[in-house]
Amino acid sequence: MAIIRLIMSWEESTKQKMLHLKLPTDPRWVNIAEMNIEDILVDHAYCEQKAASSCISLIVNFYDFREVVEVLTPVVAEEWGHFERVMEHLKQRGYAFGKPRKDEYVIKLAEYLKKGGSRAQQLTEYLLMNALIEARSCERFKLLSKHIADEELKKFYYELMISEAGHYVNFIELARKIYDMDKVNARWKEWLAYEAEVLKNLEIRGDRMH
Ligand SMILES: [Fe+2]
Ligand SMILES: [Fe+2]
Repeated sequence: MAIIRLIMSWEESTKQKMLHLKLPTDPRWVNIAEMNIEDILVDHAYCEQKAASSCISLIVNFYDFREVVEVLTPVVAEEWGHFERVMEHLKQRGYAFGKPRKDEYVIKLAEYLKKGGSRAQQLTEYLLMNALIEARSCERFKLLSKHIADEELKKFYYELMISEAGHYVNFIELARKIYDMDKVNARWKEWLAYEAEVLKNLEIRGDRMH
């Protein structure tokens, strides 16, 4: 019972945090995603690879920000662990690993990165973009965990939802530590509004996680 209460209170607090997203995913997405689960798993594997690669790049490019290196080093291992587990789900189902797909969502987000400013400002931009991707992934994993029929995948996405929520918090907290808190909060609001616009204008596809 204690564990159930803990999970329930965790779900409530996550829901609150996730409410920062300005636009919920179109409910039709989860149905078409379930019909294309092979494509979703392949796209998902690449999302995990990009998450790990992105953390490695941040560590290498911002080696002089101690907290970034400390916080993101274990995140690389977690994201790579997720990649391995998605690959395992592909294998178990007899699906092949396909080539990387164009990630319109991330391309659009990257267009919003503010150039120039101090290194702390540049780093903040990357941290906020990563936080958004984690938050949206968390929301999508939650939809999958609630609505798809495959019991194993339901459990898998529930677990990943919790993990990505933790990463979302990691990125936001890092930004607030390395740069002015009020400026970070103001910029975060702009990013949230921009992400909602991006999502609104993206085609709903059953072969993409975002
Ligand atoms: Fe992940
Ligand atoms: Fe993540």
